[in-house]
Amino acid sequence: MNEKYFEKPEVQTGLARPEDIDTILKLQQENLAENVGEQEKNQQGFVSVSTTKEQLEDIAQNEGITVAKVNEKVIGYLMPMTVEHAGGIPLLEPFIEKFKSLKIDSIPLTNLRHCVLGQVCIAKEHRGTGVLEKLYNDLKTRLAEEYDIGISEIGTNNPRSLHAHLDKIGLKIAEQYSADGRDWYIVYLDFRDSKKP
Ligand SMILES: CC(C)(COP(=O)(O)OP(=O)(O)OC[C@H]1O[C@@H](n2cnc3c(N)ncnc32)[C@H](O)[C@@H]1OP(=O)(O)O)[C@@H](O)C(=O)NCCC(=O)NCCS
Repeated sequence: MNEKYFEKPEVQTGLARPEDIDTILKLQQENLAENVGEQEKNQQGFVSVSTTKEQLEDIAQNEGITVAKVNEKVIGYLMPMTVEHAGGIPLLEPFIEKFKSLKIDSIPLTNLRHCVLGQVCIAKEHRGTGVLEKLYNDLKTRLAEEYDIGISEIGTNNPRSLHAHLDKIGLKIAEQYSADGRDWYIVYLDFRDSKKP
């Protein structure tokens, strides 16, 4: 048998280009909570925020969307957002409101340079292959000089994402809270860790 058959496809990371936006949007829409069955949600995870194509284009142009590609096709993305940008998304309002009182190791978040880690999603067939680590490594290299903290929230009903982010990527829990009948962990990535020798 041809040995090439066993080769893993090469995953490359970088910034999303305008022609990648449609694939990012498709991935997002396929994995939205309302488009995924209950069992699939529990096992595979889901995303909560739906954006328009224009919003994605705007984020890609300003903050930049980190993408993973195989054969030039986006198979995963990680989307940082400025707090101002995230504040424009209604579902994120209670989360952003928490920033006023949130502390990271006793330091008020407002005293730290911070961005929102808005959304992450990997195509189903590429999950469990290290793509998440690649996306985060690319993001850390890109943003560690600009920010101290990347802050995010993960639904308590998304155990796959929680396990991956807390135990594999190294995000930490800052707080747990409820809003509009949903329970969330506020989690953070400390960019300062990636600068330690
Ligand atoms: C969440 C997501 C980005 C993680 O990427 P991934 O490639 O699947 O992550 P990994 O497979 O490397 O890690 C997941 C870990 O959770 C474990 N896991 C899988 N299903 C699980 C479950 N139902 N409960 C707990 N842990 C679970 C896996 O075994 C793995 O851990 P291990 O490597 O120690 O065995 C990806 O699954 C995804 O895009 N899901 C849909 C969208 C989503 O949930 N986005 C996050 C929103 S907060």
